[in-house]
Amino acid sequence: MNLAQPLHELTDLSPGLAEFRQAVVAGLSASPKTLPCKFLYDVEGSRLFDRICELPEYYPTRTELALLRARAGEIAALAGSGAALVEFGSGAGVKIRLLLAALRDPALYVPVDISREHLAAAARGLAQDFPELPILPVCADYTAPFALPVPPGMAPRRRVGFFPGSTIGNFTPEEATAFLRVTARLLGPGSLMIVGADLPKDPAVLLAAYDDAAGVTAAFNLNLLRRINRELGAGFDLSAFRHEARWNAAESRMEMHLVSRRAQVVPLGEASFRLAAGESIHTENSYKYGIEAFIRLGESAGYRALKVWTDPAGLFSIHALEVPG
Ligand SMILES: C[S@@+](CC[C@H](N)C(=O)[O-])C[C@H]1O[C@@H](n2cnc3c(N)ncnc32)[C@H](O)[C@@H]1O
Repeated sequence: MNLAQPLHELTDLSPGLAEFRQAVVAGLSASPKTLPCKFLYDVEGSRLFDRICELPEYYPTRTELALLRARAGEIAALAGSGAALVEFGSGAGVKIRLLLAALRDPALYVPVDISREHLAAAARGLAQDFPELPILPVCADYTAPFALPVPPGMAPRRRVGFFPGSTIGNFTPEEATAFLRVTARLLGPGSLMIVGADLPKDPAVLLAAYDDAAGVTAAFNLNLLRRINRELGAGFDLSAFRHEARWNAAESRMEMHLVSRRAQVVPLGEASFRLAAGESIHTENSYKYGIEAFIRLGESAGYRALKVWTDPAGLFSIHALEVPG
């Protein structure tokens, strides 16, 4: 491998149309109806998510960015010099810039994301700003096993996982434990895992963050139906659905739903799906973990909790976990 060429070709392991179709048919056949949130992120979904990050109601992005700015030096000290960084759900690649700027001689950056074009564009932007850094983007569903494209002959001192954005909250606690176990194996003994996790707070703040006044989150949620129409030839009438954000106190999670405005039948190829008026399709969970609950989650997956940082208002947390060596 030619390391003089820092931005390498994207490894494409993204789910194909057959997998997408199977997941959609299974979700719409279930009761209650559901769709996997990973499919919210096509080109338009990723663009809309980036707009959400800029919204006044969406406190997580600016809060986590401020925390990272304040703590990047401490995180870099834990990572040590010559680390290989693996970012799960790397999106626009904004937050990693703060870590990359603080790290000493990072050996490699592997951004992993399911949204291919967005990932490729973000990797190109990073390659311009960090011309010396080898960048090896992987388009994959990180819930399925995949291999890290570490170039032969490269022996990074430490592998460092980075999972910001409270994306871990999109998993159920059982799925989150399974995911953390997979990442512990992927990164290996002695590795560090930096995870951003949203904290429980006033439901009014959460409801505004997931149902903004400008309607960007609604457009993000509805875009999933547009994607299913375009890629799978379904017949969703988008005007017959409305976005709804719900706080589920029993589960400590925000939920996004698409609620059918009327009784309707939606065709999808040979299949069709009946929805009653008011019936919902559950599209996303965002679990909120207190500090202790998140530490227990990490420990249940075999990690050792090293450090946790929170912002002064107690909105968001960043955990440093270690895979025992
Ligand atoms: C909530 S956004 C966070 C983006 C960014 N890390 C941030 O902090 O702003 C989730 C990101 O994870 C990606 N993603 C969601 N599910 C995924 C999956 N199963 N496999 C890989 N990437 C996924 C999305 O494409 C998106 O970029």
